[in-house]
Amino acid sequence: MAADRSRARGFAVRVIFLGPPGAGKGTQAARLAAHLGVPKISTGEMLRSAIAKDTPLGRKASPLMGKGRLVPDDLLLALIGERTAEQDCRDGFVFDGFPRTLPQAQGLERMPGGEAAGFVVFDFQVPKAELMRRLSGRRWCPKCQATYHVTNDPPKQEGICDVCGSRLEQRDDDTEAVIERRLREYNQRTLPLIDYYRGRARLVPIDGDRAPDTVFQDLLSAVEVRA
Ligand code: AP5
Ligand code: MG
Repeated sequence: MAADRSRARGFAVRVIFLGPPGAGKGTQAARLAAHLGVPKISTGEMLRSAIAKDTPLGRKASPLMGKGRLVPDDLLLALIGERTAEQDCRDGFVFDGFPRTLPQAQGLERMPGGEAAGFVVFDFQVPKAELMRRLSGRRWCPKCQATYHVTNDPPKQEGICDVCGSRLEQRDDDTEAVIERRLREYNQRTLPLIDYYRGRARLVPIDGDRAPDTVFQDLLSAVEVRA
C-alpha cells in the first residue's frame, strides 16, 4: 500500500535529515519513509550491519565508529551510489545520516537524481542536555536495528525487541566520551552543510525537542507543501 502511495504521487520525494546524534533522525526517518512508501537509507545502520557481517567495509569502519569519528567520504559515496541505483529508490528515499560532510554533499550532486534542488533538507535542533538524556537511555536491537528508549519509547517486554524478539543492547558508541566526540564531529564537519543547502535545496529547520508525534506532523506538512 505504501508503494502504491509513492507511485500515485507521480514525483520522487528525496529527503535529507541533518541533526546531531540523538536528535531523532532515525526515529523520524523510519516513520516518514514508511508513510511516503519509499526506502529509508541509514548509513549508520548500513555500516553497523557491515561490521556485524565482518565485511571489508565493516573492518574499515569499526575502529572509527567505535571512537565516534566519521568514516571516509569515498567509502560513503560508493555505498550511497550503489544503494540509490537500486530499483526501489526510483520514487525517492529518505536519507538518515547522509550526507555528513561537504565532500559527501558535493559527491551526491554528481549522482543521477542527486541535485540539491530536488531535496527537502530537515535541520533538527535539540539542546545538548536532551541529546545526552536520549542517548544514555537508548536501546537498540542488534538483529533488526529497531530503536527504543527506556522511558520515552520502551519495548512491550523489558529488554526484548518488539519486532524480532531479540535481546536489546546499548550501542557501543553511546558512551559519554564517544558521544562527545560524535558531537564534535557534527559541529565541525556536518553543521557547515546547513549553509551549503541554504538557497540550494529546501531547508526546513525543525525543533526536535518536542514529542515525536508533534515533530512528525511538521515533517509531513513540509513534505506535503512541496507537493
Ligand atoms: P548514526 O547511526 O547515523 O548515528 P548518529 O548520527 O550519531 O545519530 P544517532 O543514531 O545516534 O541518533 P538519531 O538522531 O538517529 O536519534 P534516534 O532517532 O535514534 O552514525 C553512527 C556512526 O556511523 C557515525 O558516528 C559515523 O562514525 C558513521 N557514519 C554514519 N553515517 C556516516 C556518514 N555519512 N559519513 C561518515 N560516517 C558516517 O533517537 C535517539 C533516542 O531518543 C532514541 O532512544 C529515541 O527513542 C529517542 N527519541 C527520538 N525522538 C525523540 C523525541 N522527540 N523525544 C524524546 N525521545 C526521542
Ligand atoms: Mg540514528
